[in-house]
Order: sequence, then C-alpha cells, then structure tokens
Amino acid sequence: MPLFKLKTRNPVPVATGATAANGTKAANQMPVGTRANKNGVVGTAQHGDNIVEIDDVYKSFIMGKEAVPALRGVSINVKRGEFLCLMGPSGSGKTTLLNIIGGLDTPSRGHVMVDGEQVVSLNEEKLARLRLKKMGFVFQSFNLLSSFTALENVQVPMVLLGNRNPKHAEELLRLVGLGDRMTHYPSELSGGQQQRVAIARALANDPPLLIGDEMTGDLDTQTSFEVMDLLVKLNKDNGTSIVFVTHDPRMSKFASRVIQMRDGKLESEEQSAVHNP
Ligand SMILES: Nc1ncnc2c1ncn2[C@@H]1O[C@H](COP(=O)(O)OP(=O)(O)OP(=O)(O)O)[C@@H](O)[C@H]1O
Ligand SMILES: [Mg+2]
Repeated sequence: MPLFKLKTRNPVPVATGATAANGTKAANQMPVGTRANKNGVVGTAQHGDNIVEIDDVYKSFIMGKEAVPALRGVSINVKRGEFLCLMGPSGSGKTTLLNIIGGLDTPSRGHVMVDGEQVVSLNEEKLARLRLKKMGFVFQSFNLLSSFTALENVQVPMVLLGNRNPKHAEELLRLVGLGDRMTHYPSELSGGQQQRVAIARALANDPPLLIGDEMTGDLDTQTSFEVMDLLVKLNKDNGTSIVFVTHDPRMSKFASRVIQMRDGKLESEEQSAVHNP
C-alpha cells in the first residue's frame, strides 16, 4: 500500500473525483455527527446562508467546429443544510452543472461560489484543496481503488490533504453501517456496500457539501432506499448539504427541493412537503 507510506505533511495538490472535506484538526477530533447544522456553526468558517451560489452560468463544449450548449444561463443558490435534487431528461445538463459546482469543469461564462470561494478564479492547487476540504463526490460507479481495503479507500482523501486519520475513517465506516467490513476489498463487497464506502470516503475530510451523480443508478431498489436513508441521516444529523442527480422519482422524494432541468436551463422547482412541513 504505497499510498499510505506517503509523507503527509505537505498536502498533495491532486484533483480527485472521489473526495471530501474540512480537514481541520478540530473537525477531525469532533465525533461524527457534529459539524455545521442548519441552525448553527460547528468547527468551520461560515460564509453566508448559501453553500453554493451559481450565477448565470453558461457552458458549451466545442466539438470540431461546433459549440454544443450544455448549460444556458443557470442561476441557483443552495442553502446550507439543503438536500437538493436535480432531475431532467438525458442531456439536459445535470452532470455538467454538478461538475461545474465541483470544479471538475469550468463554465464558459458566469460565477460559481462554493462555501464563500469563487471556484472559477482558483488556480489548480487551490481548486484541488477546495475539492478535498469542502466537497465530497459520489458517483454511479463507486470508483473505489480495487487494491485498497474499505478502510484504506476512506483514508485516501485524508492522505491527499495531509490529514491521515484511521480512527476517523473507522468512525465513518461505522456511520455507514460497515463497521464489520473495514478490511474487505471492494471485490468482497456488494454494490450497496461499495457505495457506502464511497459515501464514507466522500465524507473523509468532513466536507460541508456532498455531490452525488446518479449514486443509486447501479443499485437495486432496496439498497437504493438504504443509501438514501443514510443521506437523509447525514443531512439531518451532520448538517451536510447535499446536491444529487437522479432519474428515479422514488429517490427524488428524499430531497427537500427538486429542480427540473431541460435543455441546459432550470425548468421548474418543487419544495418537498415532507421535509418542509
Ligand atoms: N465532454 C463533453 N464533450 C462534448 N459534449 C458534452 C460533454 N459533456 C457533456 N456534453 C454535452 O452536454 C450536454 C449535457 O450533458 P450532461 O452530461 O450534462 O447531461 P445529463 O443531464 O447529465 O444527462 P444524463 O442524464 O444522460 O446523464 C449534452 O448534450 C452532452 O452531449
Ligand atoms: Mg449525467
């Protein structure tokens, strides 16, 4: 496991699509379940009510001589502690929007702010740190490292930030219900268990924001509900803000707000009566 022999004092400015956040010592010493919540501030600087502010964002991909418009003037604020779902037909720009929020792609035009930082203006190193500290990503295909155990996978974002903390990784695996699977390799875990490891890894540095793109797309119905229940718990107990994309109306019901996208624009939005009584 050469990764775990890395000297971790100097954070490695590496982009990773599978990570997380607030690597302060204080945060790592806090028990799982105590970070910023809807009503207050715990262990991290706060920058206003919104964790994400997107202002008039456009994105076009150049294909040969043609520009393919993916986003056409999207503005959206995500409140701290929100549980937001993006839906819409294939090609409507959902993944492009998530990637732009996550700094995995840059907009052609417009402003993107995450936890008080203008994502577009950051250099590569600062962007990598922002991703590691403030965001956790969960994808449809888990993206775990196959030669690392569950426990090692969860520690990857910590190592990248110079904050390796096996105890915290263990806590996170217990939080996602995998206390008895820590030394298993991904191939020894079910799809749902692998996705739980991916969620634990996304939370490794205690990010205020979790971003999920079709997280339950490869899971059966029962397992999908279990994963969504876990996210509800994280949102409620930890105050983690969540933005996720799904095609499945049964999963969107877990969100506090659902936004429909179409042709690169926001089409409509709906608040959930369940979450906003
Ligand atoms: N890297 C790329 N190069 C060229 N065009 C792209 C690229 N990524 C996305 N697009 C185009 O941008 C548009 C939006 O794509 P995007 O992946 O954001 O859609 P989506 O809503 O996530 O769709 P799906 O539900 O199928 O995942 C599509 O027309 C797509 O073909
Ligand atoms: Mg997509």
